[in-house]
Amino acid sequence: ADAGLEAVFEATLAADERVEPRDWMPDGYRATLIRQIAQHAHSEIIGMQPEANWITRAPSLRRKAILMAKVQDEAGHGLYLYSAAETLGASRDELLDKLHSGRQRYSSIFNYPTLTWADVGAIGWLVDGAAIINQVPLCRCSYGPYARAMVRICKEESFHQRQGFESLLALSQGTPEQHAMAQDAVDRWWWPSLMMFGPPDADSTHSAQSMAWKIKRHSNDELRQRFVDICVPQAEALGLTLPDPELRWNDERGHYDYGAIDWDEFQQVLRGNGPCNEQRLTRRRRAHDNGAWVREAASAYAAKHGPEER
Ligand code: 3HC
Repeated sequence: ADAGLEAVFEATLAADERVEPRDWMPDGYRATLIRQIAQHAHSEIIGMQPEANWITRAPSLRRKAILMAKVQDEAGHGLYLYSAAETLGASRDELLDKLHSGRQRYSSIFNYPTLTWADVGAIGWLVDGAAIINQVPLCRCSYGPYARAMVRICKEESFHQRQGFESLLALSQGTPEQHAMAQDAVDRWWWPSLMMFGPPDADSTHSAQSMAWKIKRHSNDELRQRFVDICVPQAEALGLTLPDPELRWNDERGHYDYGAIDWDEFQQVLRGNGPCNEQRLTRRRRAHDNGAWVREAASAYAAKHGPEER
């Protein structure tokens, strides 16, 4: 029976059609989707912390309202993605336990501190910009629920990226101190943003299989290059420089050449030795514990009133 089901699965992929929750799928396909979607969801939830750090200190009501909307969006993206992981049979509690105990990852980028208000703009422009480059191809992922979640999420990421760019532009064109603050933020966030796309293709453990299953549609280095090519003219428009002296247009390649990324730093952050790893997980565990009463109350209500009244 499996041979027939496997053939249907392969035919679905070959036809660029979607695999749905009730379809047969190889165990490895299910496992790598749970791994990737869970880590994506964890990234959204942890990603709320660096930005939330500035909600009470935003320079105007308009900036505060925009930042609050963005942080709320990230929470929604996380919940959306946990729901997509649940369609594969994963339990949300189990995924959160794995995050809290360090057995599942979240994106390296959120282990860096947001030292000034300009960091909020740099995160919007660079981090959400990188997320869009990585997530637009995921709208064509072979697994239906994940691809559909990405369509909705990408629309909101575009707002995140634009508000970041606009905020940085205001600072860059402001006083010399504001310009310097924007430049300092870009200097600190540029290289970690390039690391968001994952290790070089030669060191990517999952890429080959992930691309065969049409989960990953472009390689890590391909999307990283796409991001660099888009950011260089945007930095010029911002009147800010990117902290890479080797960045230069290569006519033959039709892309920008860029300097070496510090993969030791990347591996250190993945091992938990980044600037904020401990703080992010401690805060996450505390938030989870503080929210226990809400989960208990919701379960008690559901038990008393049944699902129909929920
Ligand atoms: N941070 C942490 N871990 C990373 C990483 C990063 N930036 N890049 C790679 N890794 C890990 C992988 O998880 C894998 O480890 P594992 O086997 O323990 O899971 C290992 O490094 C090898 O990397 P691979 O390239 O082989 O792994 P993938 O095929 O999974 O590719 C990826 C990595 C491109 C990040 C892919 O997982 C992906 O596209 N994920 C979905 C997008 C995502 O998670 N984005 C998070 C960014 S933040 C965000 O979107 C929030 C927004 O609001 C800003």
